[in-house]
Amino acid sequence: MALFSKKEKEKQAEHFEVLPNHLGIIMDGNGRWAKKRGLPRTAGHKVGAEVFRSICQECANLGIKYVTFYAFSTENWKRPQSEVDAIMDLFKDYLLEAKRDFVKAGDNKIIFIGEREGIRQDLVDLMDEAERDTADHNATTVYLAINYGGRQEIAAAVNKLIAQGKTKITEEDISANLYTVPECDMIIRPSGEERLSNFLLWQAAYSEFWYSDVLWPDFTVKDLYEALHEFEKRNRRFGA
Ligand code: FPP
Repeated sequence: MALFSKKEKEKQAEHFEVLPNHLGIIMDGNGRWAKKRGLPRTAGHKVGAEVFRSICQECANLGIKYVTFYAFSTENWKRPQSEVDAIMDLFKDYLLEAKRDFVKAGDNKIIFIGEREGIRQDLVDLMDEAERDTADHNATTVYLAINYGGRQEIAAAVNKLIAQGKTKITEEDISANLYTVPECDMIIRPSGEERLSNFLLWQAAYSEFWYSDVLWPDFTVKDLYEALHEFEKRNRRFGA
C-alpha cells in the first residue's frame, strides 16, 4: 500500500475555515475492537495500523501542518511480550514500506518522539533512517510517539537543563528542551475514554479535546472531519 500515493493526494479534501496547526491523536480501542470479534488483540493493532496510514494521508490532504500519533507509551511495555512484539513488528512493516515509498512520492516528514533506549536496534535503525530520509520534506510533519510519556519528556528536559548548569528554570527553558513538538491545538481520542494518559502533557495546556465512542480500527476520515468541524466552532480564549 502506497504511503503517500499521488492519486490519494489529488482527491478533493473537505473544506475547513480553520484547522488545528497541530493535531494530536490517541489511537485507542484496538484491543476492544478485536475482542468484540473474537480475534486476538494483535488483529486490532493490525487494522489500527491501516487506519493510522489513512488518517495520516488525510491530514496531509487537508494541509494540517503537524500531527502527533500516540502509538506506544512508556507504560505499554507492561503488556504481554507477544503483544508488544506484534506492535513493534507493525512499526517495522510501516517503516520498511515507508522506506520503499519515500523515493517515489513522500513529502511528509516523519519524526519519532519518545525514548529510543529500550526499543530494539533494528527498529531504531529504521526510525533514524526514516527521519533522515524525510528531513527536508515539507508537507505534514508526522510525529510518532513511541516509548513516549509526557512526564518522562518533561523530566528529561529538566535534567538537560540541570546538566547545562541552570539553577532557575523558566517555562521557556522547559519548552525549548522538550521534543520539538509545537503547542497542540486539538486532541482526538476515540474508544470512549476521556483522559490524556500521559500524552503531550506540556504541549496540551490549551488543547481542545474531542472524544468519540468509535474504536480506533473503525475510525474513518468522516470521524476526522467531525472532530475538525467541531474544532472550527470552538471559542479559544487561552485563559484571557
Ligand atoms: C491502544 O489500543 C493502542 C495501542 C497501545 C497500540 C497502537 C498501535 C497501533 C495502532 C499500531 C501502530 C502502527 C503504526 C504503523 C503506527 P488498546 O490496545 O489499548 O485498546 P483497548 O483499550 O481496547 O485495549
